[in-house]
Amino acid sequence: MKHPITLTASVALLAVAHADEPKAVFQVQCAACHAVDRVLVGPSLVEIAGIYRNNPEGFVQWCMKPGRKRLAGIEMPSMAAVGEPTLRQLHGYILKEAAGKKEQKASGVDPFGVPRAQVRRPRVQRMFLPDASPAAIAVALPGDLSYCFDASECRLRYVWKGGFLNASDHWLGNGSKQASIDGEVLYREPAFPLIGGSEGTVRFIGYSTKDGLPSFRYTRGGMQVVETIRPLADGSGIERAFEIENAAPLKIEVAAPARAESSSGSLALTAAQAKSFTLTLRWK
Ligand code: HEC
Repeated sequence: MKHPITLTASVALLAVAHADEPKAVFQVQCAACHAVDRVLVGPSLVEIAGIYRNNPEGFVQWCMKPGRKRLAGIEMPSMAAVGEPTLRQLHGYILKEAAGKKEQKASGVDPFGVPRAQVRRPRVQRMFLPDASPAAIAVALPGDLSYCFDASECRLRYVWKGGFLNASDHWLGNGSKQASIDGEVLYREPAFPLIGGSEGTVRFIGYSTKDGLPSFRYTRGGMQVVETIRPLADGSGIERAFEIENAAPLKIEVAAPARAESSSGSLALTAAQAKSFTLTLRWK
């Protein structure tokens, strides 16, 4: 009898990791949902280390067969495919990563319900959003534009104008899993706009912030990309700065109604130009 074979993303990705390096396994299997010191899709490593410091077996059991604990959010998928010995190593790795770190609380005012005009510093919020994978990240830019970055597909999903999120249900923990967009969607991106060299495995590495503005790091095929999205000063669109290691020649394709311009003057970039460029999108 034949067994049906399901090729899930995690199984496909598993082949990429070097089996015995907990750090590499973590990056491939866990990092899309767990960050060191803040909540992403799942709890931070600081929180996990606190729960399982002296209970490696409990940790392994959870990963093999995750339960349902937190009200808001998705269920964690089983990590049984990683295997118990590697999960045990991941336990040690997580304790090491979390050592001496503190959970970063969302600081200051609740981003929701704050009049949008008062948002002068960007805000980054892990949130379940419409039309995106569970690993969506909402960013409010200074001014009145916000965008949704999908950390699972490693790409911009859409940009909206107006308020930020209606998420009171989420914060009240009454079981609602999804926030709604508080504003009007101006632009939807159906696919990653850089064609060429981006085929192959897509992997989210994480993001860093500077003055609150996030830079997303991900790999696409052989390219290592850092993307930072800023509003244009006149509010007519966004500017996306790309820094790419191992860049291939790229062709830029964006969807109507946006008009695209690249800093190199052409929408076809040589490998050298693709190392560092900006892509401006306007829809007015
Ligand atoms: C697709 C997203 C996703 C991936 C990938 C993922 N997790 Fe999770 N994880 C979650 C979510 C969501 C929760 C919270 C679930 C809940 O509380 O109901 C969670 C919770 C946990 C917890 C806390 C359990 C507790 O008792 O509170 C541990 C430990 C954990 N994950 C370990 C891992 C490890 C190790 C990996 C990689 C091998 C991993 N996770 C991969 C989403 C994920």
